[in-house]
Amino acid sequence: MPAVGGIGPGTGKEYPGSLTPFVTVTCIVAAMGGLIFGYDIGISGGVTTMTPFLQKFFRKVWEKKEADKSTNQYCQYDSQTLTMFTSSLYLAALLASLVASTVTRKLGRKLSMLLGGLLFFAGALINGFAKAVWMLIVGRLLLGFGVGFANQSVPLYLSEMAPYRYRGALNIGFQLSITVGILIANVLNYFFAKIKGGWGWRLSLGGAMVPALIITVGSLFLPDTPNSMIERGQTEEAREKLKRIRGIDDVDEEFRDLVVASDASKLVEHPWRNLLQRKYRPHLTMAILIPFFQQLTGINVIMFYAPVLFNTIGFGDDASLMSAVITGVVNVAATVVSIYGVDKWGRRFLFLEGGAQMLICQAVVAACIGAKFGVSGNPGDLPKWYAIVVVLFICIYVSGFAWSWGPLGWLVPSEIFPLEIRSAAQSINVSVNMLFTFAVAQVFLTMLCHLKFGLFLFFAFFVVLMSIFIYYFLPETKGIPIEEMNQVWKSHWYWSRFVEDLDYPNGGVEMGKGGQGSKNV
Ligand code: BGC
Repeated sequence: MPAVGGIGPGTGKEYPGSLTPFVTVTCIVAAMGGLIFGYDIGISGGVTTMTPFLQKFFRKVWEKKEADKSTNQYCQYDSQTLTMFTSSLYLAALLASLVASTVTRKLGRKLSMLLGGLLFFAGALINGFAKAVWMLIVGRLLLGFGVGFANQSVPLYLSEMAPYRYRGALNIGFQLSITVGILIANVLNYFFAKIKGGWGWRLSLGGAMVPALIITVGSLFLPDTPNSMIERGQTEEAREKLKRIRGIDDVDEEFRDLVVASDASKLVEHPWRNLLQRKYRPHLTMAILIPFFQQLTGINVIMFYAPVLFNTIGFGDDASLMSAVITGVVNVAATVVSIYGVDKWGRRFLFLEGGAQMLICQAVVAACIGAKFGVSGNPGDLPKWYAIVVVLFICIYVSGFAWSWGPLGWLVPSEIFPLEIRSAAQSINVSVNMLFTFAVAQVFLTMLCHLKFGLFLFFAFFVVLMSIFIYYFLPETKGIPIEEMNQVWKSHWYWSRFVEDLDYPNGGVEMGKGGQGSKNV
């Protein structure tokens, strides 16, 4: 990697202790928090193509779709009401993540996860038994609150628990469970859509209670992170917990660093206002741009609307749902690759490789769709090889996302914030993510109708932009202890101008040994 990548690993500190069974199990349970988010992403697209569901709740949409005999395939699904159903959840999640910031900081990461599970459970229950549209909406809002709490706390929890050498891999457990949630939802939709009585959608929506129960019960048994315990004054318990987590008695150095970070964090009265300080400019930039770019890869066009999209390009209903299952499998498999590689190859390599891969695929898919559908949206007969090529490139695109922006969009923000702003900054990360998930979900079908195949080029443009951003502005964070992260900014060609030594008189909050640490930088 070039010099713009900042410093590499091996910055001096090496806390002892490795991957214990205790921390592994704990992280697996916590990562289950991703299931509720994933299940919801995967379930809505399929449910909104189920005829009985549309007839019951969105009759006008259904009538319009039935009456529309136009040959312009690009516009057949364009309906604001229906997209509002899908995307309203993300607005609720946005609000909840802001509240969750305070809960996570003052009451602990564990309680936020528990609340997330409970709210999501309530939402799933109401949705499964929905008799009227208002019940659907109340349910969606509760689901959204649940997702907001879980996405705020789980990535932080994982990054704080993990021994730093394995932080990437353990944190990506969250993304893995998102992708598993999406896949399970796709498979269930495929089968539930076939239920004769037309009530399959109830099972799809109510089924969200299962992942909700997993994270609710799981979080009851989870310990809180030592970082959070110290932050809330439980210093001695935190030391014992750290010993247990790391599986050794000699945790002094790491413990001391956590205490120093926590002391600094206590001096901060207004974490939100604090974020605006000059020295946090790099963090704030990342908290906003990383989730923004993650959504502007266009991934949720595939995740939400794969069945609709495949339908549009000429697949039958069944084949469309099946293709969504195929992309779901690719999504899970490619996430496993990033678990393997993230702490070996680094974050920057994955970001840049994934970006290049997505770009090529978007260009090919745009060309394929453009060639057959033109601007009129009327393809005539589509040969089989054509459908295979499109699905293949969509799969390569999904895998590119799944080992880069997918997991790293959650991992990198959760590991770069110093403790004093961690919770607030993570909320910004979640809210920006949700805001643009909402925006993409809301305008995608309209954009497809107007931009036609050019839609894929629109997202391709952003992929170019984000790759340039990563190349020049994101320092490598692989193998750097979380409370020591500030040094990556200090030695970065651009960000160093924002972080002055004066800000860390003792060699850094993170250098718990009265300045010795600065020699390592
Ligand atoms: C993103 C979601 C996306 C999912 C796909 C997550 O990292 O935040 O918006 O649907 O990945 O696997």
